[in-house]
Amino acid sequence: MVTVKLLIDNKEILADEGETILSVLKRNGIYVPHICYNEGLVPIESCDSCIVEVNGRLVRACSTKISDGMKISVNSPQATKARKEAISRILRYHKLYCSMCENNNGDCVLHEAVIKLGINSQRYIEKPYPVDDTGPFYVYDPSQCILCGRCVEACQDFAVNEVIWINWDLNPPRVVWDNGNPIGNSSCVNCGTCVTVCPVNALMEKSMLNEAGYLTWINKDLKKKAIEAIGKAEDNFSLLMTFSELEAKARESQIKRTKTVCIYCGVGCSFEIWTKGRKILKVEPKPESPANGILTCVKGKFGWDFVNSPERITKPLIREGDKFREATWEEAISYIAKRLREIKERYGPDSIGFIASDKMSNEEAYLLQKLARAVIGTNNVDNSARYCQAPATVGLWRTVGIGADSGTIKDIENADLIIIVGHNTTESHPVIGSKVKRAKKIKGAKIAVMDVRRHEIAEKADLFIKPKPGTDAAVLAGVAKYLIDQGWIDKEFIEKRVNGFDEFKESIKGFTLDYVESISGVPREQIIKLAEMIHNAKSVAVLWGMGVTQHLGGADTSTIISDLLLITGNYGKPGSGAFPMRGHNNVQGVSDFGCLPNYLPGYQKLDDENVIRKFEDAWGVKLNKKAGLQIPQMIEGVLEGKVHALYIVGEDTVMVDCGTPLTKQSLEKVDFLIVQDMFMTETAKLADVILPASASLEKDGTFVNTERRIQRFYKAMEPLGDSKPDWEIIQMIANALGANWNYRHPSEIMDEIAKLCPIFSGVSYSRLEGFNSLLWPVNEDGTDTPLLYTNAFATPDGKAILYPLSWKPPELKDEVHKVVVNTGRVLEHFHVGNMTRRVEGLRKKVPETFVEVSKELASKYSIKNGDLVLVKSKFGGEIKARAIVSDRVEGDEIFIPLYASDPSKGVNNLTGMIIDKASGTPGYKDTPVVIEKIEEGKGKSPLPLDNWRYHIKERKSQIGIEVEKKWRREEFKPLTS
Ligand code: SF4
Ligand code: SF4
Ligand code: SF4
Ligand code: FES
Repeated sequence: MVTVKLLIDNKEILADEGETILSVLKRNGIYVPHICYNEGLVPIESCDSCIVEVNGRLVRACSTKISDGMKISVNSPQATKARKEAISRILRYHKLYCSMCENNNGDCVLHEAVIKLGINSQRYIEKPYPVDDTGPFYVYDPSQCILCGRCVEACQDFAVNEVIWINWDLNPPRVVWDNGNPIGNSSCVNCGTCVTVCPVNALMEKSMLNEAGYLTWINKDLKKKAIEAIGKAEDNFSLLMTFSELEAKARESQIKRTKTVCIYCGVGCSFEIWTKGRKILKVEPKPESPANGILTCVKGKFGWDFVNSPERITKPLIREGDKFREATWEEAISYIAKRLREIKERYGPDSIGFIASDKMSNEEAYLLQKLARAVIGTNNVDNSARYCQAPATVGLWRTVGIGADSGTIKDIENADLIIIVGHNTTESHPVIGSKVKRAKKIKGAKIAVMDVRRHEIAEKADLFIKPKPGTDAAVLAGVAKYLIDQGWIDKEFIEKRVNGFDEFKESIKGFTLDYVESISGVPREQIIKLAEMIHNAKSVAVLWGMGVTQHLGGADTSTIISDLLLITGNYGKPGSGAFPMRGHNNVQGVSDFGCLPNYLPGYQKLDDENVIRKFEDAWGVKLNKKAGLQIPQMIEGVLEGKVHALYIVGEDTVMVDCGTPLTKQSLEKVDFLIVQDMFMTETAKLADVILPASASLEKDGTFVNTERRIQRFYKAMEPLGDSKPDWEIIQMIANALGANWNYRHPSEIMDEIAKLCPIFSGVSYSRLEGFNSLLWPVNEDGTDTPLLYTNAFATPDGKAILYPLSWKPPELKDEVHKVVVNTGRVLEHFHVGNMTRRVEGLRKKVPETFVEVSKELASKYSIKNGDLVLVKSKFGGEIKARAIVSDRVEGDEIFIPLYASDPSKGVNNLTGMIIDKASGTPGYKDTPVVIEKIEEGKGKSPLPLDNWRYHIKERKSQIGIEVEKKWRREEFKPLTS
C-alpha cells in the first residue's frame, strides 16, 4: 500500500493511495454528511451532501479518490454552503418529525446532518402519493423519500432482484416497483435489502412501526395532527431537534442490538437483531457482516416470528399412554438417565443412537458426540448432513482431502466462470444467488447452469443444460473427456500437483459425445460449449447442491466435479474451486465438531491410536473404536431389533428422513425415544420424553457456514418458559449418567475443542468477538485459511488424486411408475417449514405444498392449475397436492417442494430407503411415481397470484439509479463545479 500526503484544512494527513476523501475524513474524525453513501454499496453520487473543495473545485468526497499532495478544504465557505444547500434540498422531500419517527435511533444520518450543520428550518413540499403497505413485511412512504437511490442501487446491483427503480419523469419522482405495481403484488422477493440501506424512514420494517421509540405508538390520527403541528414549526425547529436527540438517546435503554447469525441456510448471514424485551423489531445486516455484507434474504430478514410462537414447547414432557404430561427438569432428566442406563446394560452401548440437528451450535454438537462416545460408549452419532451433504464430502475427500468449500464466497464472486450443478441458487442460498447474479451483471462473469429444472439462475445463465435426472456425472465426464482430447487441460498443474491422471483418463474414455448425448439427452453442442467456456475462463468455481447429492451416485458426481477442477488447474487460486452448497446453517459445523459415526471432532480418525489416546486422556474414559451407525442405519437398526433408544436433537426425522412411513414405524417401535425440540414436530409426537430447547436468540454459541467460516452468535433474550439451550440439557443428561461436566459457558467448550482438534487450535471466543470470524483450519496463532490448497492438497503426499469414475446409468422408472419426482427448497420456506410455517408473512406468500407439473404431463393427464393431483410412489406412499402447470419442469418430471404445509403433504411420504453406498445418503430425487388428477381445481392456483414468481417478467433491469436523469431536473442541478 502506498502512503500519500494530504492537506486537509491546512493540516497534514497521511492516507493510503486509492482511498476516497470520505474514507480519509471519517477515519480522522472530520465530519461531512454523506446521505446517499452506504459502505456496503458503491458511491451513488445522488445527494451532494458530502461536497468538499479540492484545489478550488467542489467535488464529492464519497467518490473522489485522493492523490498525493491533494489540498482538501472541508470548511471553505463554498463547500459549507454547498453542503447546507444539499441538505436543505433533501428536506424539501422529508418532513422532520424525528421524535415520532421509528428511524430516530441515534443512527439516522439525516438527523445527524441537520443537527451538525445547524440547520433549523425546512421548506417541505407535500407529495401526492399514499403510503404503500401492501407487502407483508415493509412499507414505503413516498412522502418521506429523499430520492437518494440507495434502495435502488441495493436492489438492482447488489441483491440483483431488479425490482425497483426511480421514475425521474414523475412529478415528484418516486421509487417504483416493477411497472408501478403495489409492493404486495410485485416481483419483490422481500429480501429487505432496500429497507436495510434506506437512510430515513421511507422504507421501514413493519415490525418497527409503533414499536421503536417512546412516542411512535400513538394512534394514527393523533400522530397526523402532531406531525402537522410540528410542521408549523418548520421555520425554527431547533428545540424540536434537541428534544428528539434526547429521545433517541433514551431509546438506547429500550432497544437492545445483538449480533447474531442466521439459522436458516448455509450462507451464514450475520446481522444485528433489534429487540425490545421479547419483541423482535428488526434485523440489520452490516457492511462488515463477512459473508453477506448488507444482503439478506426474506427468511433471515423477516423470518423470526417462530421464536415467540405460542406453539413453542416450554416445559419437559413425559409420555403417559397416548398423552404427554408436564414434568420438572429433574424428573425428566433422571427418567432419561434411568432408561438409558437400563438399555445400555441390557443391550450394550451400541443399542443407543444419537441424531444431531444441523441447527445446533458447534459447542452443542461437540457435547452431543461426547455424550455418545465418552458417557454412553458408542459412535452411533450422526447428523442430517447424511440427508444431503455427505456425497459432496465424500467426493472431496476422495480427491482433495477436505470435505468442505475450497474457498470463500469472495472466490465465487471473483470467478471468471461460475458453473452451477443441481442447485437452485437464488432460492436455496439467496445471498450467494445475489452474488452470482452481481458477478455476471457488474463484473461480466459467465454462468453455466446444469439442472433438471429451469429456475431463476438457469434463466440468467449464459448456458443452460438440462440433463435427464441423475445423469449429471455422465455430462461432466463427457466435458472432461472433451477437454482432455482437445488438450485443454493444465498439464503443469497436473504434473506437479495431481496423481492418477492416466487411470482417470482411462475411466472416462467411454464418455464420448455420442454416448453422453444418448444417455443424458444433452446435445453434443452443449457439452462442447461448456468445455469451451471452461477452457476460455481464467478461473472456474463450481457450485453444487442437492440436485447432485440427493441422487444415487451423488458421491460419484461430486467426485467428477472435483476431477474436472483438477484437470483444469482450478484449485488453490483465487476465484476458483469447489463449492458444495451447505444447506442448513450449521450442517458444516455439526460434522466438523464431531457428530459423525466414523470421525472424532475435527475429522480425526477413529483408527488412529494417537488420536484415540489423546481423547481418552482428555475425557478420562476408554473409547469404543468401532465406527457407528449412520442415520438410515439407525432407523433400520430399530426395525431389526439392534437399536433400542434414540436421542434426537432438533431434527424432525419423520418428515426429513427418506420414506416417512418406514421412519415412523421405526420411531414408533424404538423402546425409548428422547426428542429435544422447540416444537411438537411429527417426530416429537412419537417421543417418550420431549425436552424443550431454546432458540439461537436465547443462547450463545458459534456456527460454521458453507465457507468453513466460524462465527459467534450472542444471546438476545432469555430462554422462553423453562426451555434451555441444547448444551445445558446435554450436560444435565451426561451428569445424570455419572459424568462430571462443569461447563459454565459455551466458550469453555470451545477452549476444550481447540486443545483437542488441530484444525481449530487457534479458535477462541475472544478471536471471534462481534463480526470477527475465522475460517478453519485455524493455526494456534489465530491465522486462518480462507483459500485451501494454495501449496498442497490435504493428502499424505500433498498431491490431489484424480479419482477414476465408476458411474452407471440410473435405473429409476419402471413400466408403471414413469414420472420422476424432483424436490427442493422454495425461497420462502426452510426445508419442511417447521420454523417458516410459523411466520405469517411467509405462509401468506406460499401457503401450501404444490406439485409443479410439466406442460407435457399436464396435457397428457388433463391437469390444469389448481387441480388436485394424487401422486403415488413406487415405494408405497402417496400425497395429494394442487397442481401448478409450469415450464420450469419438462417431460415426465414433476417438482414438489420440501415445504410440507401439513404432514400428509411431506414429499418424503413418497421417497424410499434407497441409499448411495459411498455416502449413506438416500436417493431422495430417485423417486418414480404415477400421477392422477382427482379433483378439478377451477383454475385457482395453490400459489397466490401476488407471489413474485408471477411478476418476474415485469422487472426492470438497469445499472444503478440512472442518476444523470436526476441531475437533468431543474430542482436538482448538481452543486459540484
Ligand atoms: S427485492 Fe424487494 S425487498 Fe429486496 S431489495 Fe428489491 S424491492 Fe427491496
Ligand atoms: S426509499 Fe430509497 S430513495 Fe427513498 S430515501 Fe429510502 S433509500 Fe432513498
Ligand atoms: S437464509 Fe441464508 S441467505 Fe437467507 S438470510 Fe439466512 S443465511 Fe442469509
Ligand atoms: S454522499 Fe456523496 S453524493 Fe451523496
